[in-house]
Amino acid sequence: MLLRGHALITKDDRFDRSPQVPTTRSTTFEFNKKEKPMGLLDGKVAIVTGAGRGIGRDEALLLASEGAKLVINDVGASLQGEGGDKSPAQDVADIIIANGGEAVVNGDDISTWNGGKNVIEQAVDTFGSMDILVNNAGILRDKMSFNMNESDWDDVIRVHLKGHFAPAQHAAVYWRNKAKSGEEVTGRIINTSSEAGLYGNAGQANYSTAKGGIVSLTWVLARELERYGVTVNAIAPRARTRMTENLFGEMAKSDEGFDEWDPKNVANLIGFLASDNAADVTGQIFVVFGGNVWAMGGFVPVGELHRDHAWTPSELADAKGDLFKGVSSGIPKFSFF
Ligand SMILES: NC(=O)c1ccc[n+]([C@@H]2O[C@H](COP(=O)([O-])OP(=O)(O)OC[C@H]3O[C@@H](n4cnc5c(N)ncnc54)[C@H](O)[C@@H]3O)[C@@H](O)[C@H]2O)c1
Repeated sequence: MLLRGHALITKDDRFDRSPQVPTTRSTTFEFNKKEKPMGLLDGKVAIVTGAGRGIGRDEALLLASEGAKLVINDVGASLQGEGGDKSPAQDVADIIIANGGEAVVNGDDISTWNGGKNVIEQAVDTFGSMDILVNNAGILRDKMSFNMNESDWDDVIRVHLKGHFAPAQHAAVYWRNKAKSGEEVTGRIINTSSEAGLYGNAGQANYSTAKGGIVSLTWVLARELERYGVTVNAIAPRARTRMTENLFGEMAKSDEGFDEWDPKNVANLIGFLASDNAADVTGQIFVVFGGNVWAMGGFVPVGELHRDHAWTPSELADAKGDLFKGVSSGIPKFSFF
């Protein structure tokens, strides 16, 4: 029996994962066949930014396997954000089309205002609507703060932060207009943060700052767009891609058993968040890798002082032990496990 969605992605290697060669295997990815089961995203139109490689690639393939029509955005940059190779994005679109789905390529730099506008317009012009925006594109220029130069800072902040807001802003205009004209909206924005953004990683002042900003942006957009039928969430993934393969030895692909560092595992969460099943999930941040999904709480107090008038600096010094009762006053630990 043909399985769809979660089972298809996690249990079967049905997508051709080689970067260049699209698959036309008849046994795979039969989501457009008449006898197909319903997909979670049938009839929806999705955009994934940075979908030519890594996590975005698997997110796009997953969304397509669930029935969505895809705009595959990717500027084709190197890890550091240089160059413009359009072939990875085309490859992903080719795989989807070869397996009976619908996909188009968008090569805009998503960190420009016009790039954000173009990708939304292309989705609507091509497929007649736009329902799901997965903000994923990213670059890396890791350096300690004392070694970082201006362009390292500007480029990473731009690609991640503006690269999230530019398409989200134009999507927000589109959905708001749609809602105001009386049409039903089931909009989804899924942003990509990082544990580096949640906890602040040494050597990543630019990247961690951008990823932390994406968490705040997620909360802002969730509050602003709820009334128009749009949910906004963010993921902090871990997966083996070119961004991480040299960082973590344990990410080497295992020959047998469950491959917990496979980006496909992350893609499954995107499939759920994009679906109607997640209509009541918004403003949430998830850490996800392997078979693990954590819904992260926002900031909560770990200590407090209260009285009906202000504390002087000296009094605060005296009360320090009460403020940090039972918790460290040093740098909070990185991550939660
Ligand atoms: N891999 C991990 O473990 C991990 C961990 C935390 C966060 N992330 C985040 O996940 C996202 C995907 O990362 P990845 O590991 O798949 O990296 P990747 O380098 O494999 O893929 C990133 C893609 O984004 C594209 N891109 C870069 N700049 C772009 C721009 N201006 N416009 C359009 N496309 C652009 C690149 O061409 C590339 O195809 C990033 O936002 C990254 O920060 C990844």
